[in-house]
Amino acid sequence: MKSLILCGGKGSRLRPWTFSRPKHLLPIMNKPVLFYGIELMIQAGITEIAVVVPPGLRQEFDDALRGGTPWGIAITLIVQPEPKGLADAVRVAENFIQHDDFLLYLGDNVIDGSLQPLIQKFQSENLDGLVSVSHVDAPEQFGVVQLSGEKIEKVVEKPKHPPSHLAINGVYLFKHSLFGAIAKISPSARGEYELTDAIQQLINDGFHLGVFRSPYWWKDAGQPKDLIMCNQYFLDKMQGCTSKGAVDQKSLISGQVVLGENSKIMNSIICGPAIIGQNTTVENCYIGPYTSISDHVSIYNCQIENSIVMENTVLNSIPHRIEKSLIGGEVKMIGKSQQLKTIQLWIGDHSHLYFP
Ligand code: G1P
Repeated sequence: MKSLILCGGKGSRLRPWTFSRPKHLLPIMNKPVLFYGIELMIQAGITEIAVVVPPGLRQEFDDALRGGTPWGIAITLIVQPEPKGLADAVRVAENFIQHDDFLLYLGDNVIDGSLQPLIQKFQSENLDGLVSVSHVDAPEQFGVVQLSGEKIEKVVEKPKHPPSHLAINGVYLFKHSLFGAIAKISPSARGEYELTDAIQQLINDGFHLGVFRSPYWWKDAGQPKDLIMCNQYFLDKMQGCTSKGAVDQKSLISGQVVLGENSKIMNSIICGPAIIGQNTTVENCYIGPYTSISDHVSIYNCQIENSIVMENTVLNSIPHRIEKSLIGGEVKMIGKSQQLKTIQLWIGDHSHLYFP
């Protein structure tokens, strides 16, 4: 069994951050979204993994996955020359997949659960395809399946009148027959080769497609609020914290707090769950629950909670309590006043903000 992770798309709903990095590399709990999927695959025993990326973002993915990655396996990068849809992204990976069965994973999805039961169902029922679905309130925002018993009869992409509440949650298993189906489909009205059309083609050609009713927590991390929500979810699950940094005697740490190497906490209150990366300095601050602060960040005289702060950013004397915020890398936010109000910020990489 191999694995293919699709990381195309412009990430327009995650601008401004996606002007400078792919959405799949935005951090949740200081770890790129993409790594959550890769780790699930490795836990399920899959070690041959490829990631399909757009040509312009190859370098960013290369940097993130370089050196065998934290997991000690090499991950193959495959470039999709043009953004011609999910089915086209699968097609460009045919040489990597060859004739193996494969798990297909849309790289902006975050799932908390094992992939093992899906693989077991696919193999034990000798299915040609297996589509993982979750029950959702608003199926019109997703690919939706229509079932006949436990067999998929129809799949529709973002239907105005959904045939069910079962949304495709970005995890699928296929045999090589998917490539035959992709070869038969034409571009959709938006000019893309749709994966749902290829799946429908398999059904029309008489292949047997099963459904996995996923009981797992799942988020399509496509919008800022989704990243904040995923960050909360995974921080809540954090256990057995380790602190490698230095905390001075005037500071107070409560709850689950991870502090990375060479980081310093001075005269501050940190209420977990929270994570602070490496080489980060926090002085005269209140860092509240559900906050992830990345590496090489400096925060002085600030109050912040339920937020994500990316690498190399400086926050100094902001006269507002920062909440539910997503602050990019290399940002400078400089204030003077100590009079606190509350503020919510969506700040992209390299921004400079100066408060009176
Ligand atoms: C894609 C798929 C859709 C699926 C969704 C899951 O849509 O086309 O079938 O339900 O991912 O996240 P997108 O999120 O790219 O609009």
